[in-house]
Amino acid sequence: MAELAGKHIVLGLTGGIACYKVAELTRLLTKAGATVQVVMTEAATQFITPVTLQALSGRPVYTSQWDARVPNNMPHIDLSREADAIVIAPASTDFIAKLAHGFADDLLSTLCIARDCPLLVVPAMNRQMWQNPATQRNANQLRADGVRVLGPDAGPQACGEVGDGRMLEPAAVYSAIVAFFAPKHLDGKRVVITAGPTFEPIDPVRGITNLSSGKMGFALARAAANSGADVTLIAGPTALDTPWGVWRQDVQTAQQMHDAALASASGADLFIAVAAVADWRVAHVSERKIKKTADGTPPAFEFVENPDILAAVARLPDGPYCVGFAAESDDLDANAAAKRVRKNVPLLIGNVGPATFGRDENEVAIYDEHGITRLPRADKTTLATLLIEHIAKRLPGSLFS
Ligand code: C5P
Repeated sequence: MAELAGKHIVLGLTGGIACYKVAELTRLLTKAGATVQVVMTEAATQFITPVTLQALSGRPVYTSQWDARVPNNMPHIDLSREADAIVIAPASTDFIAKLAHGFADDLLSTLCIARDCPLLVVPAMNRQMWQNPATQRNANQLRADGVRVLGPDAGPQACGEVGDGRMLEPAAVYSAIVAFFAPKHLDGKRVVITAGPTFEPIDPVRGITNLSSGKMGFALARAAANSGADVTLIAGPTALDTPWGVWRQDVQTAQQMHDAALASASGADLFIAVAAVADWRVAHVSERKIKKTADGTPPAFEFVENPDILAAVARLPDGPYCVGFAAESDDLDANAAAKRVRKNVPLLIGNVGPATFGRDENEVAIYDEHGITRLPRADKTTLATLLIEHIAKRLPGSLFS
C-alpha cells in the first residue's frame, strides 16, 4: 500500500527530545512510497544524528545553509521547490516563533520562507512553553497564515510534567499527512459507518459474537475522513485504533448499534453498514452466571430477531444514501443484486470468495444501478479508498464523475 507514492516531503527537525519519534515517522513515510528529504537545525542534531535519518530516509541529510553539495549553493530554493509539502516535526517553541515572524537565519527557516508548497507543523514542547501566551499567539498566527498545526497531544512529558505539548505519535502524524494529500471527494459530507461484530450477552460473562475484525469498516471510515467527510464510526467490540479525524462511538449489541445508527443517520449524507450484526439475540439475558446442572442438562435459549439496521436507516424519510455489504457463500452476483432490492439500498458491496474476517486483504464487487463493478484483490486500505471514490460519484448531486 503505497499511499504516498510520488510525494516528495521535506521533513524538518528542530531541537526537542521528540526528535526520537521522527525516526519512526521517516520510516512510515518512506514505506508508504514518499521521498523524504530530511533537513535538521543545529539543535536537532543534539537529539538525534543525521546518520540515523539518512539511513532511514535513504538520502543525505541537510543541516547547513552553506552546503557545498548543492551546485548553485541555494539549498533553500532547491529543496523547497522539489517538495509537495514541508513538515516540521518536532516544531520547537523557538522555531514556531521564527516561522510566525518570518525569520530566516538557518537552512530550515529559510526554506520555509522560500516555499511554494504547503507547510505542516507538529509542535512538541513542555506544557508551560506551549501554554505561554507568546507561543499561543505564534501558533495562531501560523494558522491564520494557512499553516496546518497538527496537535500537540496531552499526557506525560519527557520532563516529568503532564499536560498539553507532547508531539503527536508518529502514526498520527503519518495519518494526518496522508489525509492532507487525499483528494476531497466527500468534502463537507456527513458520513455514518457501522463496523466490527456485535456481542449479544447470554449472562454477565458469556455472549454470542462473530469473527468480524472491523478492519474493512475502519478502513472505510479512515478513507471517508481523508476525503474530507465528517465521520461517525459506530463500532462493535474490536481492538482497532480509531482512525485519524474520525469520531467513534463504541457499542456492544445489535440493538445499541441500531439505536446509535438511527440517532446519527438523520440528516447524514451517507450511511455505510459494514458491521457483521448478529441476526438474533437471547430473549432473556440471565443476571447471574448460568451454572452447570448436576445432571448435565445444557441450558435452552429462546432467541429473538435483532433489528435490521441497514433496512431501518434506508426507511428514514430524510435518510442518507445507503450502502450495504453482502457476504455470500455462493452465487454472489444474483444474491447481492437481490439483497440490494430487498434492503432497498442503492449500492451494495459484495465480498468475492470466502470470508476475509481478520485478514488485511479482500476482493469485492460493487452492485448499483449502473451494474456490477469488480475491483481487483487488494489490501483493505486500498480498497476503502477505491470504494469511497466510487460511492462519492453516486451521491445525489455529486460533482465527480
Ligand atoms: O442480511 P445480511 O446480514 O446478509 O445483510 C448484510 C448487510 O446488512 C450488511 O451491510 C450489514 O451491516 C447489514 N445488517 C444490518 N443489520 C442487521 C443485519 C445486517 O445493518 N441486523
